[in-house]
Amino acid sequence: MNRDWELFLLPYKQTVDELKVKLRGLRGMYQLRKEHGPIEFVTGRVKPINSIIMKSKTRGISLDKLETDMEDLAGIRIMCPFVEDIHDVVSMLKKRNDLTVVYEKDYVTNKKDSGYRSYHLICEYPVQLIDEVKVVLVEIQIRTLAMNFWASIEHSLNYKYQGEFPEEINNRLQKAAESAFQLDEEMSTIREEIKEIQKNFRYSQE
Ligand code: GTP
Ligand code: MG
Repeated sequence: MNRDWELFLLPYKQTVDELKVKLRGLRGMYQLRKEHGPIEFVTGRVKPINSIIMKSKTRGISLDKLETDMEDLAGIRIMCPFVEDIHDVVSMLKKRNDLTVVYEKDYVTNKKDSGYRSYHLICEYPVQLIDEVKVVLVEIQIRTLAMNFWASIEHSLNYKYQGEFPEEINNRLQKAAESAFQLDEEMSTIREEIKEIQKNFRYSQE
């Protein structure tokens, strides 16, 4: 199939760019309110063409059904300092009037067998093109810094081992996932104290 990928992916690129600006802007807004900021940083990407093709093959998604069946062509990640912040960010996103949550996956409460934890929102986002508004799907992943650390390491190893981890690596990854979980738990218990420090730190930088 001959597809003009650049043209096809353009609305997704626009969506990722817009959401990055909007969500990064929120960081500053929380800071101005002198409130603890639930957003540490935001990243986004359009799925690379080779990954789209590979996933369409492994998932049996026909290339002319990508718009509806591949929900992560546009992907946004929001990293939060604390686990509690994830829920604040999720409810804040649900209240926004520029996107609609279609469904959610709570891998924070229900971690995946791999050890992966994150909160996923699959959303519809209307993006203004030259002479039409196109509603595109975007996957927003919300996770703590510890969850992100684990996921990025596991993701890199996945590249190397194609998901077939040797027993030894698998055990280590499971242990690391447990440690990341405990770090989040530990941080939560001292969250109030850290919040105070963060506020004072921000004042002193003004
Ligand atoms: P994908 O085909 O990977 O999109 O899986 P899915 O459609 O069943 O959805 P799922 O919620 O399982 O995964 C969506 C996304 O979450 C993935 O594309 C990854 O970014 C992330 N993810 C899910 N599971 C893992 C995991 O075990 N390790 C890491 N590092 N990331 C994961
Ligand atoms: Mg997916």
